[in-house]
Amino acid sequence: MTAPPARTLVVFGAGGQVGREVAVGAADAGWRAVGYDRAAVDIARADDVMRALETTPASVVVNAASYTAVDAAETDAASALAINADGARNVAAAAARRGAAVIHLSTDYVFDGRKRAPYVEDDPVAPLGVYGRSKEAGDRAVRAEAARHVILRTAAVFAAHGKNFARTMVRLAAERPELRVVDDQTTAPTAADDIAAAILALATRITAPGVAPEAFGTFHYCGRPATTWHGFATAIIAAAGRLGHRAPPVAAIASHEFPTAAARPRYSVLDCGHLARVHGIEQPDWRPALERILPHLLPATQPSDLAQGAPR
Ligand SMILES: NC(=O)c1ccc[n+]([C@@H]2O[C@H](COP(=O)([O-])OP(=O)(O)OC[C@H]3O[C@@H](n4cnc5c(N)ncnc54)[C@H](OP(=O)(O)O)[C@@H]3O)[C@@H](O)[C@H]2O)c1
Repeated sequence: MTAPPARTLVVFGAGGQVGREVAVGAADAGWRAVGYDRAAVDIARADDVMRALETTPASVVVNAASYTAVDAAETDAASALAINADGARNVAAAAARRGAAVIHLSTDYVFDGRKRAPYVEDDPVAPLGVYGRSKEAGDRAVRAEAARHVILRTAAVFAAHGKNFARTMVRLAAERPELRVVDDQTTAPTAADDIAAAILALATRITAPGVAPEAFGTFHYCGRPATTWHGFATAIIAAAGRLGHRAPPVAAIASHEFPTAAARPRYSVLDCGHLARVHGIEQPDWRPALERILPHLLPATQPSDLAQGAPR
């Protein structure tokens, strides 16, 4: 028996952490992925988005493109809004016009972090900064433009490629005698390849014949267990140490000791129960994900190796 032909899924932002993993994982999940990175399609340009979907008819469009520089957004609101709000609208509107469902990525930073229990999908949004506001505006635009949408809010994304906290910790561990990391912001690390697997499973479910209306809407998806950035850093450095790399001590500091341009939520853990109940997609444990991703982030040689005369 021959396998049915793979259906097509278009990915915008295909050069990013999540976009790349969706493109990589698609074939195994029964999808033909066509990825457009920023150089190929700027989602802020509505005509370019529409042209891409005319060239590549798709059943599902994934919007993994985003302005993600949380601090830079504070002084570059125009770019953040053009990409995260207008860009999201462009993708959703074009997908709807072409008859495709849309899966749009969003963030825990739409919440203010005052809650002390995991956020559910209909908790009130109250972003603290420009990035969060621009993403929240994007969520509203997607809802307005495309009936067949899934908005997937996630958190603290890390991957073997791209800019992320784990990569930064590994770099600093090679350079510094001690790391200082905030211990009063609680989040939920989430591996990009786990997010991609969830997106691909969702793509299949929301295009299934007779799909129920509750398959669409806003869902939360992040790793477990929740931890502080200090907790995540400690796990990263311990894992690097087990692989023979430098493992300096990680000191816990308060947010006021590490001022940033953008305020961040103190607590932004997402309750992922709705996704599990509706779609059967369970929260991933970020610790095995860290073990599989970390080797790709570690430098080939360590300063300590070089000092001991290891071959260069
Ligand atoms: N990273 C996190 O910790 C985090 C946390 C919570 C939620 N999220 C959400 O998860 C999603 C994916 O994030 P990620 O970590 O994969 O982000 P990422 O690695 O920064 O990837 C975003 C990609 O979008 C591209 N892009 C930026 N502007 C664009 C435009 N106008 N048109 C097309 N592409 C554009 C970027 O290209 P350039 O690099 O060339 O600009 C980049 O390749 C986003 O919606 C983000 O808000 C991320």
